[in-house]
Amino acid sequence: MCGIVGYAGHRQAADVVIEGLRRLEYRGYDSAGIAVVEDGKLRSAKRAGKLVNLVEALAEGAPLPGRVGVGHTRWATHGPPTDPNAHPHTDCNGHLAVVHNGIIENFAALRAEAAAAGHELASDTDTEVVAHLLEAEMAAADADGTQLARPGSLAEAMRRVCRRLEGAFTLVAVDIRDPGAVVGARRNSPLVIGCGEGENFLASDVAAFIAYTRRAVELGQDQVAEIRADGVTVTGFDGVPARVTGYRVDWDVSAAEKAGYEYFMLKEIAEQPRAIADTLLGRIGADGNLTLDEMRLPADELREIDKIVVVACGTAYHAGMIAKYAIEHWCRIPCEVELASEFRYRDPILTRSTLVIAISQSGETMDTLMAVRHAREQRSRVLAICNVNGSSIPRECDAVLYTRAGPEIAVASTKAFLTQLVGCYLVALYLAQLRGTKYGDEARDVVSQLAQMPNAVDVVLETMEPVRALARELASEGCVLFLGRHVGFPVALEGALKLKELAYMHAEGFAAGELKHGPIALIEGGLPVVVVVPSPGGREVLHDKIVSNIQEIRARGARVIVIAEEGDHEVKPYADTLIEVPHVPTLLQPLVTTVPLQVFACELATAKGHDVDQPRNLAKSVTVE
Ligand code: M6R
Repeated sequence: MCGIVGYAGHRQAADVVIEGLRRLEYRGYDSAGIAVVEDGKLRSAKRAGKLVNLVEALAEGAPLPGRVGVGHTRWATHGPPTDPNAHPHTDCNGHLAVVHNGIIENFAALRAEAAAAGHELASDTDTEVVAHLLEAEMAAADADGTQLARPGSLAEAMRRVCRRLEGAFTLVAVDIRDPGAVVGARRNSPLVIGCGEGENFLASDVAAFIAYTRRAVELGQDQVAEIRADGVTVTGFDGVPARVTGYRVDWDVSAAEKAGYEYFMLKEIAEQPRAIADTLLGRIGADGNLTLDEMRLPADELREIDKIVVVACGTAYHAGMIAKYAIEHWCRIPCEVELASEFRYRDPILTRSTLVIAISQSGETMDTLMAVRHAREQRSRVLAICNVNGSSIPRECDAVLYTRAGPEIAVASTKAFLTQLVGCYLVALYLAQLRGTKYGDEARDVVSQLAQMPNAVDVVLETMEPVRALARELASEGCVLFLGRHVGFPVALEGALKLKELAYMHAEGFAAGELKHGPIALIEGGLPVVVVVPSPGGREVLHDKIVSNIQEIRARGARVIVIAEEGDHEVKPYADTLIEVPHVPTLLQPLVTTVPLQVFACELATAKGHDVDQPRNLAKSVTVE
């Protein structure tokens, strides 16, 4: 949450910072702001609302020259999204500016201390106290009051301040008294250094600087980075120089562009066949065996696992729910799935033979990161299934399987979800391969079918026009329900989540069998109910049961929208609208049944005039608990 950019180099900092914020706006869009240092002066501008408001204000005002600057796009925590609460925040004298992502948990005490010391606080934010703490540290270091430029003074002040902070924070600051430097610090929230030629960058995500350099360094936990045009220095909060390892970003700037689509979400839905194919690439051998050595978990350890616990949030949690069906069926290992935000607070029973799987697109979700830390403290092995290379969650896990969806920019997760599913299937099938499984033939058959999934998703994408028409027709409805059984149940939850977050509409997903235990009271004449129907050729009993559930809701007047396998003649007579998907093995069905629900939500939200990529109140990476 919140996007941060810092720049020191030979270009106009304002241009680089605004362009970086444009690429990071998916992280929060409650307000945006910028500060640059030039000629001993700090100039800043900030506006509530989306980045466009700031850009318009800058176009009307005086230019912001300078080769050093910081910028911020906000997802509000402390204080409403107003101009005064927008970042950057400055000290009493306007010498320094700071931007922040995260929550400073001891801010109330620090704020009281700052106020008592005579500092004037102009916002409701937790961030502003940092500006005043930095002010105090800079003043203490400048005891003779000459305010001469002293390289390194801002970094030292930042280290001293960070040692006093509790909570999660990425901070980036500039100060006219150390004019060539941009200083960043990190605890529990992401910050990446971009290393260019005669210029360097700090950002929440490589997308902010990928147009200038692909060389990146992830700042580690409790570290401070000072960037200048000609160099980068990294230390711990204690001032001890830190060893850092860089990496090369393996995608280019075009992957983070809309490429002619109206929304990133439309592009990302369309990219799903490619994303699945990339995630499978090199992982299935010619002999049909899976090779996941990259996970770095020794086979002996994997054979000893007696329980698996999946932790994740939101859409990734739905992927985890589906993983449970696959893991228990193919591997015969008991598997629990838990919302990461609940996990550590209930004192879960974890041992050295428990494998915890953390699923996260961003690798930065704070709830999931905290669950990972808790599991590691209990000495369980932790495997990440993650989309962002080098992000916090995989860095803190014992092992990682990267999905290869490429950058996902729309807030609503689509291609990340399908590739998370593929990642989960691969892990489950690999465990089955290592340990031997009751359903060995089936597992081998599924491995070969996985390779067909990009085609199957392609076929679904080609037949989405009726789904779009249906979405437009239902745009004025107040509520839509989603039903499923078995792996169709998490798909129903995912369909409802997409509609809630994009169309701001009441939407609920239920296990179809639970309907009669309460939710059926919601059914009334004309209520749209989307039913995800399992394959008739898979587990027949499941199919028959859901056909009965359809009868029950039809009898009460629901408008039944069925997603079913092509050729399912049994369900056809009971569908007011039938959406057909290709036949695939039962456990893989979510790969094809989720796609119409993504398209449905996207089109319905568009018909309502919503910004599909930036739905209200949300942000892409949820870096607060
Ligand atoms: O980055 P993560 O996969 O950890 O994110 C988890 C959720 O915040 C995320 O899936 C969220 O639910 C999506 N906006 C749903 O579309």
